[in-house]
Amino acid sequence: MKNFISASQISRTELDDIFNLTDKIKKNKKKYSNLLKGYVISTLFFEPSTRTRLSFESAILRLGAGLISTENARENASAKKGESLEDTIRIVQGYSDMIVMRHFDNDAAERAVKVAKVPIINAGSGGGEHPTQALLDLYTIRQYKGKIDNIKIAILGDLKYGRTAHSLIKLLCLYNNITVYGFPVHGLELQENYKNFLKNNNVTYIECKSLNEIPYDVDFIYQTRVQKERLEDKNLEIEDIILNKENFKRFSEKTFLMHPLPRVNEISTDLDDDNRSIFFEQAHNGLYTRMALILTLMKDFYNNKWRKNERAY
Ligand code: CP
Repeated sequence: MKNFISASQISRTELDDIFNLTDKIKKNKKKYSNLLKGYVISTLFFEPSTRTRLSFESAILRLGAGLISTENARENASAKKGESLEDTIRIVQGYSDMIVMRHFDNDAAERAVKVAKVPIINAGSGGGEHPTQALLDLYTIRQYKGKIDNIKIAILGDLKYGRTAHSLIKLLCLYNNITVYGFPVHGLELQENYKNFLKNNNVTYIECKSLNEIPYDVDFIYQTRVQKERLEDKNLEIEDIILNKENFKRFSEKTFLMHPLPRVNEISTDLDDDNRSIFFEQAHNGLYTRMALILTLMKDFYNNKWRKNERAY
């Protein structure tokens, strides 16, 4: 793999390799600390971020690479002066060996790849995809269930613009006997192309209108934030789905609660201490999965140039 811009471009074998490497990194971070010495990686974020940008930047630094970064590229980079995304990529690739990019347009990562000579990682593209979030989500599922096949997962909230849900759905399609229960906020239902994607990959999709329609023993509840910044209809009346200590009682002791974060009010803080709430650990897994992804792409692309470091991993 040269780039990682969509969850639909990765195979189950490649995921296994990344997750196995993630396990090793998690056990011994120090062992990987100098592998990318001499390389420079850039992070270009045209939209706000806490987890994705900082975990990528921590991953880059922990692997020993140098980092150049624009935190608010929409305002502080030359996009503000009218520079096209393509020209920005043409310039930044001359300064760095990989580009990690978040952008407000759904097709931004594809456009970047068309002109880039270095690997591109999509760190979130509009209301389209967020493939590296799906990597850490699936890794967390594997960590808690020991497997990914044969799981039941409910995805709540904004299924229309929720890019994390879109990429997660695509990765789940690589596994066997998966059932997805969708419980969208009214007006933000999963679009037909994703429903067809699930159907064509033999994943059962059941749309629910209330929490009570989700089975008691569902393995995971994946709550999401309404992407208010992306709503076309600014007058849409949003009735948030709020999970709290009381309504979460109806789920099994083995039903884990995930969220890509940030949350606003869709998970009440009275659930934070519940053993089933795993969303903070989920976010921390982002550091390790992103270290594994960067190493995998860098190895594939620059293999001949960094053999001397390869022994370590
Ligand atoms: N999950 C996620 O993408 O969070 P940030 O927007 O903080 O990066």
